[in-house]
Amino acid sequence: MVGSKISRNLSMELARVTEAAALTAGRWMGRDLKESADQAAVDAMRQVLDTIEMEGEIVIGEGEKDEAPMLFTGELVGRATSPQVDIAVDPIDGTRLLASGMPNSIAVLAIGERGSMYRWEHIAYMDKIAVGPDARGAIDLRDSPGENLQRVARAKGRKVNDLTVVVLDRPRHEQLIREIREAGARLKLITDGDVAGALLATMEGTGIDALMGIGGSPEAVIAACALKCVGGDMQCRLWPRNEEERVFAHENQIDVDRVWAIDDLVQGDEAFFAATGITDGELLNGVRYGSMRATTHSLVMRARSGTVRFINSTHRLEKLASLDQMPWD
Ligand code: FBP
Repeated sequence: MVGSKISRNLSMELARVTEAAALTAGRWMGRDLKESADQAAVDAMRQVLDTIEMEGEIVIGEGEKDEAPMLFTGELVGRATSPQVDIAVDPIDGTRLLASGMPNSIAVLAIGERGSMYRWEHIAYMDKIAVGPDARGAIDLRDSPGENLQRVARAKGRKVNDLTVVVLDRPRHEQLIREIREAGARLKLITDGDVAGALLATMEGTGIDALMGIGGSPEAVIAACALKCVGGDMQCRLWPRNEEERVFAHENQIDVDRVWAIDDLVQGDEAFFAATGITDGELLNGVRYGSMRATTHSLVMRARSGTVRFINSTHRLEKLASLDQMPWD
């Protein structure tokens, strides 16, 4: 049962949350210390979330897949009793990217009405397909990649060999990659970060037309919120990675064959999405630190209005440190 409408536009407040995570996590760029970076981002996110007038329940926390420090599922954040919202966080999407100083790590957060988000059922991965608004309704995960690409091309008024598909570079995608190549589409392989991949596939002007392949289930829900905001489309299916997860699914009557549409992942139109670049990426610049100031580049979106805002912010580090007792500098 989905809760009451979120009457306030939370976008700017959410940008403060992802900015804080990016500002603290950015210090760990290239230092090969994934856990420390994650912890810094989680702590910053939690601290700023607790300043927002809302009662947020974390329904998608970070890290169960690799036992990273979490904002725990079920944890309540915010400093009021309304609006009551569901929150999905990924304080660092692309922790490995950040730890090795590579592009495209981002801090992300999504919010929906209470009860609107799919409650992740401990199956770590989902098979995903995501496209932008111009190919909405053209995807079906039950069909082959080639069939999907033909329909996407038709919807976009282009040929399949004009399309570019973004895929996580993983051995599990050997067949998918072969089928995409056979279909004639171009391929962009990424080492990590399929929330950023989904954003690239759905935002205008990136040159990417679709995201395909198996990635984290929590990331699927977060990406679904972003896609709702831009009017894109997405389908997912749980992908148990081992016998333990298959048994878990069976014992808990989880239907692993079910294809989840975007509205199954996030119900209704009251979704918000925020992301801030940590390292430089195609969509967002990373954090820059100066002697007194740091700059961040963020994206915030609201599904109800469809408004997309890119925000360049300058942060006075010593002022923030004195206000928030955070290790900003
Ligand atoms: P984290 O940085 O949050 O660990 O996730 C990175 C990521 O690349 C996700 O974007 C993606 O969904 C998932 O990991 C893929 O998992 P794996 O690296 O196990 O293939």
